[in-house]
Amino acid sequence: MKVLGIETSADDTGVAVIEAAGTFGPGFHFSALANEVASQTHAAYGGIYPNLAKNEHKKNLPILLEKVMARNEKPASPDEGASRGGPDVIAVTVGPGIEPCLWTGITFAQKLAADWNVPVVAVNHLEGHIIMSMMDFVNPSSGSLSEFEFPVLSLLISGGNTQLVLSKEPMQYEVVGKTRDDAVGEAFDKVARMMGLPYPGGPHISRLAAEARKTHEASPRGFALPRPMLREGNLDFSFSGLKTAVLRHVEKWQGKTLPFEFKKEIAREFEEACADVLVGKTLRAVEEYGVGTVVTSGGVSANAFIRLRLAEALAEAGAKFLVCPPQFSTDNAAMIALAGYFHALKKEFTDPENLTANGNLRLTR
Ligand code: KG4
Repeated sequence: MKVLGIETSADDTGVAVIEAAGTFGPGFHFSALANEVASQTHAAYGGIYPNLAKNEHKKNLPILLEKVMARNEKPASPDEGASRGGPDVIAVTVGPGIEPCLWTGITFAQKLAADWNVPVVAVNHLEGHIIMSMMDFVNPSSGSLSEFEFPVLSLLISGGNTQLVLSKEPMQYEVVGKTRDDAVGEAFDKVARMMGLPYPGGPHISRLAAEARKTHEASPRGFALPRPMLREGNLDFSFSGLKTAVLRHVEKWQGKTLPFEFKKEIAREFEEACADVLVGKTLRAVEEYGVGTVVTSGGVSANAFIRLRLAEALAEAGAKFLVCPPQFSTDNAAMIALAGYFHALKKEFTDPENLTANGNLRLTR
């Protein structure tokens, strides 16, 4: 089955085609025939500006579709359908995310579905992240299902989400922990902004933190930051207090340029505080639910320090740890096509007319 995926939930426009075969199990395999992402830059705003993002999606979608379809012949008429190599199904993100952005993807999918006469699957963006992170890649664009056992715990860490999701069986989800305020990526971005670093801030903070580790073995005194909610007996997170604690340090330099040494040390302490909390809560969930496999996805999972800390802690706890390559762990449309494929197998189609964007869509099914 060939699935065209469309992703427009935040500031990345994604269009992809995957070809997949088999049910959710050892015989499954897929190939990303094309996976195009146009990343918008909202640096001037220090975050995502919804109207700008929406207009960029509108502009990018037809361009990306052309590129993707250049390698996947379009059906010339609805009657020819998939027989000429066009997609059999369209999978589109319907939430969670920024609603005006989600609508641009939905409208685009509706038009294509009518033109090509193919069915549509509505996909939860988070399910796309989770399913993609369960894949084992034999080369950069194709793979099969990794070998693992349920229950699986997914740590979703991005600019818009910080959640721990438990799956006792394939395609079943229970959110067991989430942030009560900012997402961890959002905190990285806000802390970066306080220190005059460009958006998105995560990679800049991470680079500075690595510099600091080269200089000193441990954080020098005077840079301490809290580990919010780490000792509380639940699986929730909070990053807004951590961000405010950084602000208190930054304010001491009001009117003066922040010294590079200071930026490096704060970046390192902030990254370590985030890692401590993410690792601590993940381990608590592993123990509480008898989890044998942990997967992680989202932009923050690209952070080398956090990945390493998770890998070490989970190896010690005896749990398998899976992370997919960066092009599939940050926002992309191949993951939407992949989740869409498994729903299409179960004939879980939505009438294109009934597709609705839901900014707060939850993981339920
Ligand atoms: O999943 P993603 O690409 O999309 C959104 O959620 O929009 O995640 C983007 C987030 C941003 O907040 C960015 O600062 C963060 O991921 N990020 C990182 C790193 N790379 C990206 N955070 C920490 N360390 C990184 N290396």
